[in-house]
Amino acid sequence: MDFRFTEEQLLIQDVARRIAREKIAPSAEHFDRSGEFPLENIRTLGENGLMGIEVPAEYGGAGMDPVSYVLAMVEIAAADAAHSTIMSVNNSLFCNGILTHGTEAQKQKYVRAIAEGKEIGAFALTEPQSGSDATAMRCRAVKQADGRFVINGKKSWITSGPVAKYIVLFAMSEPDKGARGITAFVVDTDKAGFSRGKTEPKLGIRASATCEIEFVDYVAEADEVLGEEGHGFKIAMGVLDAGRIGIASQAIGIARAAYEATLAYVKERKAFGQPIGTFQMTQAKIADMKCKLDASLLLTLRAAWLKGQGQRFTTEAAVAKLTASEAAMWIAHQAVQIHAGMGYSKEMPIERYFRDAKITEIYEGTSEIQRLVIARHETGLR
Ligand code: CAA
Ligand code: FAD
Repeated sequence: MDFRFTEEQLLIQDVARRIAREKIAPSAEHFDRSGEFPLENIRTLGENGLMGIEVPAEYGGAGMDPVSYVLAMVEIAAADAAHSTIMSVNNSLFCNGILTHGTEAQKQKYVRAIAEGKEIGAFALTEPQSGSDATAMRCRAVKQADGRFVINGKKSWITSGPVAKYIVLFAMSEPDKGARGITAFVVDTDKAGFSRGKTEPKLGIRASATCEIEFVDYVAEADEVLGEEGHGFKIAMGVLDAGRIGIASQAIGIARAAYEATLAYVKERKAFGQPIGTFQMTQAKIADMKCKLDASLLLTLRAAWLKGQGQRFTTEAAVAKLTASEAAMWIAHQAVQIHAGMGYSKEMPIERYFRDAKITEIYEGTSEIQRLVIARHETGLR
């Protein structure tokens, strides 16, 4: 076992850390308050290869491995979680899906602009009545005699929906076949038949724009079909395996930021004539934060390493996402408690970490769904 990172991995971590410190951290509070989409910062991430980290250079990406992706995501998320949400969807849900299942023409057409950060990508699985139970979708794609599909239906909670140029979309093409009747598409939001609802006001990751989208007689050409017809659900699940590594990394970044701020605070803040970090109750919290943070990082790197080796990593990604998201929520909670009044104030970023951490337990499969995936695998029972 080799716990050292390669020079290339350290290099991309360094690039991400520099942008995080110089551009993202100073503007994080502004974007959190305003809820504006941080387009200029996203372009900077794209120009530096961070919007397509695992995308080969021939399609406009950085051509790096999944471990590099984890390292870069952690740095960006530590500066601002909302930026890392946009980054994660572009990298692991959009580019990864098309690279794995797309034709050469689709890779050329869709991946480059997204990997370079010139356009934004999105991923649309959830519907108003179906989140965890994703196969209960109602969005319909009806195949025509000429091979085109006519799509009708709504998708909800679509990250980057308000700004995306292209969206990987899942729709039911043969309802009587259930999960095997779902087909994936790459749709163009400039085409007729596509529209957006209002941007959702949210508890956290406020600069990551989220909305409902609707398709009314949207005509998808045959070359907008991603992968084989009827294979859409497996495509979605496989893409989400990779996505969960991204969300685990995001959770680690938020948790690390909360932990580092707490480490500084317990040394400087005094009560009863001594630094609060000298109290054993505070020290126990610090020790537990450190253990949860390290465990989350190691489990996430394990899942990323397996992905890089071309091995199945479904369970390991769920273990990483579950552990890291619950650790982030716990660490952010303790960080607020240790900062007490200042933890509750908008003068410090601690309350933002607390609000941002929560989403990692919800999207890309709730904690209950990660437990379901892990337990089904371990027991073989359903
Ligand atoms: N890889 C490949 N195939 C998979 C798979 C995987 N990880 N998981 C399941 N499949 C296949 C199964 O083998 C099965 O195939 P067959 O029909 O050939 O047997 C098929 O998919 C159906 O699988 P299940 O019977 O296990 O399906 P299910 O209905 O019981 O659902 C579930 C399983 C894990 C609960 C799934 O519905 C799920 O993950 N739900 C959560 C949805 C989710 O994560 N949504 C995220 C939306 S995107 C997002 O949130 C983005 C963001 O915030 C930024
Ligand atoms: P539900 O599925 O209704 O679940 C409600 C509760 O029941 C949860 O606690 C859940 O864990 C529990 N539950 C459900 N089934 C089970 C079970 N079998 N066993 C035990 N408990 C269960 N989706 C996209 O497709 N694309 C996106 O870009 C996207 N971005 C998002 C961004 C944000 C900010 C948010 C909030 C959501 C986003 N989503 C996106 C949707 C997200 O993936 C869903 O919210 C999530 O999968 C949960 O679905 P739901 O909200 O419908 O909850």
